[in-house]
Amino acid sequence: MLKKKLAVLVSGSGTNLQAIIDATTTSLLPNAEIAIVISNKKDAYALQRAKKKGIHNLFLNPKDFSNSTEYDTKLIEIMQEYKVDLIILAGYLRILSKELVIAFSNKIINIHPALLPKFGGKGMYGEKVHEAVLQAKEKESGCTVHFVDNGVDTGPIIAQKKVPVLEGDTVQTLQKRVLAEEHKLLVESIKKILFV
Ligand code: GRF
Repeated sequence: MLKKKLAVLVSGSGTNLQAIIDATTTSLLPNAEIAIVISNKKDAYALQRAKKKGIHNLFLNPKDFSNSTEYDTKLIEIMQEYKVDLIILAGYLRILSKELVIAFSNKIINIHPALLPKFGGKGMYGEKVHEAVLQAKEKESGCTVHFVDNGVDTGPIIAQKKVPVLEGDTVQTLQKRVLAEEHKLLVESIKKILFV
């Protein structure tokens, strides 16, 4: 069976990327492979994770492009060159242009560290999400994988996992609990979408 090709877009530490790497190199996701990892941040540790495994990786510097449409036009070219079946935003902090979303309609997914539609939207990323959950005194939080549309965190939801918010939780303890579920949810969602 021809393996399905994944592109993973990242900006940070890349623990979700690592979960995909681990799954594609074991029996969890044997029929998919990462064709390329692309970061908009030069020092993203995610790039090191890809390098260590010999996975093609690229730092695409936003400063080399005059606007985000041009940046994403380059991304589209790369995706076509690598014949990518699915684009995964795994801690990728740029908002996609509508051109990219249209070019890969229903082929781009994002992982968000909360139970959307709650605690999503512009500016809701990283620790800010968990801060907001704690401030709202929610009893539970979790993570969501969804298709990317032209809004921010608004596309159709594919799957969610819940975790409890515990007494005395800090941003860090909640983030850690959610992140552990993200890793499982992302791999399960890829499997579900690609039928692999
Ligand atoms: C995750 O919480 C993800 O949901 C969010 O950014 C974080 C990325 O973590 N979009 P990592 O880089 O995968 O470790």
